[in-house]
Amino acid sequence: MKTTETMEGKVVMVTGSAAGIGLACAQAFAKAGATVIMADINEPKEQAEKLAAEGFNAIPYRCDVSNAAAVKEMIDWIVATYGRLDAAHNNAGIQTPQRPMAEITDEEYNRTVAVDLTGVWNCMRYEIRQMLKQGGGAIVNTSSMGGTVGFPGQAAYIACKHAVLGLTKTASIDYAAKGIRINAICPGAILTPMAAELIQHNPQVETDLLRDIPAGRMGRPEEIADAVLWLCSPQASYVNGHALLVDGAYTVR
Ligand code: NAI
Repeated sequence: MKTTETMEGKVVMVTGSAAGIGLACAQAFAKAGATVIMADINEPKEQAEKLAAEGFNAIPYRCDVSNAAAVKEMIDWIVATYGRLDAAHNNAGIQTPQRPMAEITDEEYNRTVAVDLTGVWNCMRYEIRQMLKQGGGAIVNTSSMGGTVGFPGQAAYIACKHAVLGLTKTASIDYAAKGIRINAICPGAILTPMAAELIQHNPQVETDLLRDIPAGRMGRPEEIADAVLWLCSPQASYVNGHALLVDGAYTVR
């Protein structure tokens, strides 16, 4: 059986799905037969409508993941409307402006933590409560290759991405016996609006990345989506608490 056949009838929520990796993941889940709730601080109305016009089940939902009450409201709405939540991809994230650690402002630090770490915390908490009620589910959190190594000028962001791995590993132990699998995806340098903005501010980033990526190129959002889909599928039934690097061999040089 192909992975793409195993999402038929599943209810899946993806955060940060208006653009980049989240959008590619929402598209992949929808095309694999799932009903996908596309959550984003910028409501992905057009993106969901495009999928619906192609015959897939995609529903846009405006939600700021840093707001716990808003996340609870969204999960409650999903369960009230669709009866369950089979899989969730907690992917929304923001970058901190690139500066040495002591020059990052409190405001920048606090907002980065609120979205990149507390956002994942908020989502997991309500997803897990629902998955416990229904007897199982699969969660994938987006960390980064920066969840496993340091990068210059990104202290707040990298700290959050490391913390997401700690959260993933610990929660996977807490709930493994309850039929809930919790894994992390660690993308390398992926061509998305976030990466484009980083490169626009500092073109040297692209030169350095291309020099250092053994694959010799940046990754495509669809290459992350394939891995996320697999992590959420029954084919990954014994994969739990794992941090899956999809980085063109960047971190193993
Ligand atoms: P992106 O900037 O292209 O898309 C991120 C999406 O998240 C946007 O649609 C944005 O509106 C949404 N978002 C931002 N704050 C939000 C909030 N508070 N609540 C709900 N939605 C919010 O970013 P990209 O590149 O697709 O990144 C997705 C995830 O992958 C992030 O967690 C990022 O840290 C991670 N990542 C990206 C890499 C890359 O090279 N692009 C590398 C490693 C990790």
